[in-house]
Amino acid sequence: MADASNVEVFLTYSSVTEDDVRGATVVVIDVLRACSTIATALHHGARAVLPVADMAEAGKIAANLDPDMYRLGGERNAEKIEGYHLGNSPLEYTQDEVEGRDVILNTTNGTRALSRAKTAKHLLAGSFLNASRVVDFLKQVETPIVIICAGRQNRLSLEDTICAGVLLDRLWENDDPGLVSDAAHTAVTLYHHDRDDVEDALKRANHAQRLMRNGYTEDVAYCFAIDAVPVLPYYRDNRLVLADSLSPAPLAASDDSADAPSL
Ligand code: MLT
Repeated sequence: MADASNVEVFLTYSSVTEDDVRGATVVVIDVLRACSTIATALHHGARAVLPVADMAEAGKIAANLDPDMYRLGGERNAEKIEGYHLGNSPLEYTQDEVEGRDVILNTTNGTRALSRAKTAKHLLAGSFLNASRVVDFLKQVETPIVIICAGRQNRLSLEDTICAGVLLDRLWENDDPGLVSDAAHTAVTLYHHDRDDVEDALKRANHAQRLMRNGYTEDVAYCFAIDAVPVLPYYRDNRLVLADSLSPAPLAASDDSADAPSL
């Protein structure tokens, strides 16, 4: 890894600009639930997940795909969007539903944050489910690292911030970063504060409470399971695919050739 302190954290995605992600390795975190759903769909054999920023973009992409070969998924106010095949519960993205298909995913925060970072050198979808896979990748890059917490309606979300803290704690485990950005310090300190009973701290998060009130208690427990879905969703050509399926592998060939997204 390049310079351990060359890590920036955005606690919400709203202020992220192209300058912030250019030439960087970016991890977008949306624990509840977009990035957890993305990891699960790819783990269950989806060909790709296409994150979109709004309804119009979702409709435009769907119009050009074979109806049998895609699933339209997403939420507003945590509920399935009318007319869509699936909501945003990772538990809906079973092998039967997604294997061999593309998933067009449209959510309130997570897919918008991914769309905002799509010009990054490397772009990953991160969550508790694939924390170690993400950290393994970050330890190999020579670029600046940017962690973007999706948050919720431009507000900090506890679960995304603690997840950022987990990634940093593991990234720096043998590498004292020295002085780091205030947001990076905040994320790792928050995780250290709650790490003896992180599940309890997470369950008190506003969006976790909201989802449990709305009958998504299983989703919350599933999304808080660390390393339960060890896959690496990697963004290329406007879609997220399993990094392992890419040839050359994202970091294998000289950086410039391997990951110039062909739009
Ligand atoms: C989001 O992107 O805003 C979340 O994933 C929403 C949710 O699924 O509750």
